[in-house]
Amino acid sequence: MDVPEWLRTLGLEQYEPAFRANDVDAQVLPRLTAEDLISIGVASVGHRRLLLDAIAALGTEAPVSRDTPMRPEAERRQLTVMFCDLVGSTPLSARLDPEDMRGIIGAYHRCVAEIVEGFGGFVARYMGDGVLVYFGYPSAHEDDAERATRCGLALVDRVPQLTQAEELHARVGMATGLVVVGGEVVEHDVAGDTPNLAARLQALAEPDTVVLAASTRRLTGELFEYRDLGEIELKGIDGPVSAWQAIRPSAVVSRFEALRGSALTSLVGRDEEIDLLLRRWARAKVGDGQVVLISGEPGIGKSRIVAVLAERLRDEPHLRLRHFCSPYHQDSALYPFIDQLGRAAGFSRDDPPQAKLEKLEALLARAAATNEDVGLVADLLSLPASERHPLPNLSPQRKKEQTLEALIHQLEGLARQQPVVVVFEDAHWIDPTSRELLDLTVERVRDLPVLLIVTLRPEFQPPWTGQPQVTMLALSRLDRHDRAVLVEQVAGGKSLPSDVIEQIADRTDGVPLFIEELTKSVLESGVPAVGIPTTLHDSLMARLDRLSTVRRVAQIGAAIGRPMRFSAPSPAFPKMSCEPCSAGSLLPNWSSSAATHRMRSTVSSTPWCRTQRMIAYCAMSASNFMRRLPKLSKLIHQS
Ligand SMILES: Nc1ncnc2c1ncn2[C@@H]1O[C@H](COP(=O)(O)OP(=O)(O)OP(=O)(O)O)[C@@H](O)[C@H]1O
Ligand SMILES: [Mg+2]
Repeated sequence: MDVPEWLRTLGLEQYEPAFRANDVDAQVLPRLTAEDLISIGVASVGHRRLLLDAIAALGTEAPVSRDTPMRPEAERRQLTVMFCDLVGSTPLSARLDPEDMRGIIGAYHRCVAEIVEGFGGFVARYMGDGVLVYFGYPSAHEDDAERATRCGLALVDRVPQLTQAEELHARVGMATGLVVVGGEVVEHDVAGDTPNLAARLQALAEPDTVVLAASTRRLTGELFEYRDLGEIELKGIDGPVSAWQAIRPSAVVSRFEALRGSALTSLVGRDEEIDLLLRRWARAKVGDGQVVLISGEPGIGKSRIVAVLAERLRDEPHLRLRHFCSPYHQDSALYPFIDQLGRAAGFSRDDPPQAKLEKLEALLARAAATNEDVGLVADLLSLPASERHPLPNLSPQRKKEQTLEALIHQLEGLARQQPVVVVFEDAHWIDPTSRELLDLTVERVRDLPVLLIVTLRPEFQPPWTGQPQVTMLALSRLDRHDRAVLVEQVAGGKSLPSDVIEQIADRTDGVPLFIEELTKSVLESGVPAVGIPTTLHDSLMARLDRLSTVRRVAQIGAAIGRPMRFSAPSPAFPKMSCEPCSAGSLLPNWSSSAATHRMRSTVSSTPWCRTQRMIAYCAMSASNFMRRLPKLSKLIHQS
């Protein structure tokens, strides 16, 4: 049994280094106790419970021979590969006592491991003072390139603070690309150009800087401030490559604007949705406060609709408050509100606390906040108490309640002056305290000239539906006509053959983001059938990784195509073998040679490694064989 793979299927791969460091192998695993898990470092009660339940379930499975270790199967994945190196470690080790040097390297490794884990990355290997890190393996996130860049910036910031005794600096390089990971190579090694490029970029980075390859830079859009390092010749890499230094997160607060904001095409369809929002706004602005929950899968166009509404209301007198939840701040109480207040008050990076306090006072004065409310909000923003508005002496629970009330008063104060549109984006990443405040806001807006718009993905179950002021707006996928219109718009003046437009419309299922990205890929590559665009890889892989146990079925299904019959699934199918019986259980309804051709081209463009493709081809051949079986047996009878 493969312990890392087992952890991965549980979604707990972050403990793999701890299991490895404590020699927990397949033999020891079934005997682990709760105390063992604590001493290994599994601090979360929930995770311990999951692990213990899964260990108990192991007892019911057939034992796996130790002689036949299973390797994680080779996979073709898009990874952002990061190298982090300690600057000047060779002269440092020549100067220091080996034990002191060991202490420094140990502290550095712990620091890197902690930061990488915090951003959802995976430390693949320590090579002396160099560390090789993957984002996108073993589990993908939709924003792996952004995570890697944030992680790199945190590393070059933290490493110099590690010790007073020595001056330490790190440098980081990263690149994004398709690699093959797992299989016959050394565990966690990857094959492909990307690690080499990342290593070369790391080597040329100045101390305390993070250098990105063009591939990573493209995926992070305007999320960061960058310095263009121009075209660089790198040893072992053909031709000059472009490189950027990531400096810091940019001031663009909205993910939509940072990643999709440039060159928006016109809105396609969605007339009814916009109409509905305008009708709710008409009611809200006369005091009949309304809440609209815009729900839909990633890329379906939630933020786009909010942006279109803002344009339509541009000439109407109103105030707009924008709150953004973030996957990086789900544990940070009231983060979307703190962030909004800081922006509205006009805080700049270098403002001293006193200057910030004055800006905050000016902001809150517009809504005629009481001294007590100002004190509570200032405290929420970690600003010092002042004599003008001292912080009341309250228990933590009471203080939280009063702070939430102070924030509601703020909205009420603004709404007394002008109707307000409150946008609350990406509620699926909300922190629990913001959720409480949103509960209160949904309740209170009833009697205020406020339109509250909340965007959310389907995994978030909004508890407010059913209340009279709340409308749910579930965005559906674009129909065939609108898909084709969007393809043409993205293509700009360039005309695409109608069968290419049809293919794009077919493969993208009416999700506008997919349509945009696939069309761009087709235009860039100049070939009609391309693989999955780089920009969609991470988010699709993240979805696939979340399916864990049915992943394989999804992969095979993706190759065979949609029109397939799944009437007699073999129980062995998730552990797919090439035998015709299990493959044949996925008989597609292919009847024409054109369809078979389409199936072949799907397989060849699916991001799999060669072995997986062969399995898929086997499945195809098997299904063809099964389809022909009646005819064959008839022929045999006749002969
Ligand atoms: N109706 C539409 N017409 C034209 N383009 C659209 C339409 N809907 C969405 N888009 C485009 O599709 C892309 C994805 O849309 P958007 O970012 O709004 O999705 P989202 O639902 O907010 O996704 P997420 O859950 O990731 O926030 C954007 O570039 C957007 O401009
Ligand atoms: Mg969005």
